[in-house]
Amino acid sequence: MNLEAQARMLANRVKKTFRKLQPRMEQRRIGAFRLYDRDIPEIRAVLDWYEGHLVMAEYAREQTAKLPWLEAMARAVAQELEVPWERVHLKERRTGEKYQRLARKGSRLEVREGDLRFLVNLDDYLDTGLFADHRETRARVRAEARGKDFLNLFAYTGSFTCAAALGGARTTTTVDASQNYLDWAGDNLRLNGAQGFELVRAEVEAFLQKARGRRWTLCVLDPPSFSDHGGNLFEVQRDHRALVEKTLAVLEPGGVLWFSTNHQRFTAQLDGLRFTEEQTVPEDYRNRTAHRAFRIIR
Ligand SMILES: C[S@@+](CC[C@H](N)C(=O)[O-])C[C@H]1O[C@@H](n2cnc3c(N)ncnc32)[C@H](O)[C@@H]1O
Repeated sequence: MNLEAQARMLANRVKKTFRKLQPRMEQRRIGAFRLYDRDIPEIRAVLDWYEGHLVMAEYAREQTAKLPWLEAMARAVAQELEVPWERVHLKERRTGEKYQRLARKGSRLEVREGDLRFLVNLDDYLDTGLFADHRETRARVRAEARGKDFLNLFAYTGSFTCAAALGGARTTTTVDASQNYLDWAGDNLRLNGAQGFELVRAEVEAFLQKARGRRWTLCVLDPPSFSDHGGNLFEVQRDHRALVEKTLAVLEPGGVLWFSTNHQRFTAQLDGLRFTEEQTVPEDYRNRTAHRAFRIIR
């Protein structure tokens, strides 16, 4: 299939999806959702809607390396959905690449998720500051947050903390190794009217070791698949069991841990623990394992 035929096929498909999805999302006041999720094998890209903006990411490969492939696809889609080109944001994803800065435009956009609000940055990083695939997970956490002492590990921009705070958590503790993301989490929390939140810049394992004696009653543990903070190598497949156990150790008996991973070939090693795997990937994600989520009770 040539470039033009591919672009037309993609644009048609996206338009159909948009017509079906957008009214449903708007009814729930959801401003960020997925429009295309690698549905067509030759078109290896994902496309997200953010309040009238389009973010399109291509999974880099040799066949398209010398072509203006991504731009051709995005132009066709933008035209079909009548999105001006200034509101189109392109990314190239390569395996192993994450979290590095792509630009410093610093412009932020406010995105709705029901009555929650999140600040996203569609240009400066590979990720935008919001993982829309965790929309339902946030709703589940929020639904059980009332009166809880909430701990968010690998918190990124604090979207789970915002959900817990609006759900009536008594206290919240938000932990991340990056000051930049922690500042962003603070901005998100203030945007949602949260007060008295605790932001902790720390490597998670070091935090857990030092937290002995403190106890929480609800926790989200959503680590990256791989990380090497401060020489501390972490691989979710190899290390999740130990990390889950260390996290359970700072929960009160009966406390709830939501453990999640987006590793695509993940096998859970949680035998002997009181856990259920929960279906929390929203309808707009064709990839039903965009993430996996486990609810574990101490
Ligand atoms: C996969 S994201 C977490 C997604 C987040 N839970 C959400 O739903 O938005 C990775 C985050 O983990 C942080 N991080 C990675 N390794 C870390 C470590 N060893 N200790 C603390 N934070 C870490 C990064 O700074 C980044 O913010």
